[in-house]
Amino acid sequence: MSRFAGKVAIVTGSSSGIGQAIALRLGSEGASVVVDYLTHPDGANETKSKIEASGSKAIIVQADITKTEEVQKMVEKAYAELGGCDILVNNAGVEKHAPFWEATEADYDLVLGTNLKAAFFLTQRFAQKLIAAKKPGCVINISSVHEDMVFPNFASYCAAKGGIRMLMRDLAMELGPYGITVNNVAPGAINTPINANLLANKPELDALLRNIPLGRLGTIDDVSGVVAFLASSEGAYVTGSTYFVDGGLIRNYKEQ
Ligand code: BGC
Repeated sequence: MSRFAGKVAIVTGSSSGIGQAIALRLGSEGASVVVDYLTHPDGANETKSKIEASGSKAIIVQADITKTEEVQKMVEKAYAELGGCDILVNNAGVEKHAPFWEATEADYDLVLGTNLKAAFFLTQRFAQKLIAAKKPGCVINISSVHEDMVFPNFASYCAAKGGIRMLMRDLAMELGPYGITVNNVAPGAINTPINANLLANKPELDALLRNIPLGRLGTIDDVSGVVAFLASSEGAYVTGSTYFVDGGLIRNYKEQ
């Protein structure tokens, strides 16, 4: 299938985990992909070579996406080297564990900067270019069940994910008239490096699994399939929505 032939996608944080799976999925269906990373060049190279092996183009951009100048450069690179940019996946994410009263300013800045500010300004430049060129486009934010659900000891993460929920809703209104759709894909507990601590702690993992109606963690491909649907023409009339990919975690209710 070549649902994305002729399209260019930026996927932030695509050197590992969910972002890597999304980049590979879009690439395997014909998209040229900007593979963004911060600290794992090996992972970014792996993403790039796999996309190339599937017959599509990929370029690597190393960026500190908390810096607006760097996300702007990323969009310029997509235009200069791949001829444009039609799909933006704001995926890069980081979380820091601490009771609220011990959270540091540095961790707050990192978490809000990566999960919220980066998506804000990257989407802004992405949209400016499309509006100027009178072209449609598609923005997908990888948020989390925690855009809506509490996550004690991760207050900065919840603040960022709650922010991205309302950013998405607002931008769906502002960018809709320009033919740009904006949606969130909200994973629950997915088997990825961000969950390394949880995966290593069997009692905590078992307790979490008991809260997931489908009884298992999600896979990165559970997430990338929904992203591909939204980015394709089949998702063309979807905007302003959150798609939960969480095995039912957010709908769970138990009498204790
Ligand atoms: C977090 C994970 C967590 C999951 C479910 C995700 O957004 O990154 O650490 O396990 O939500 O709570």
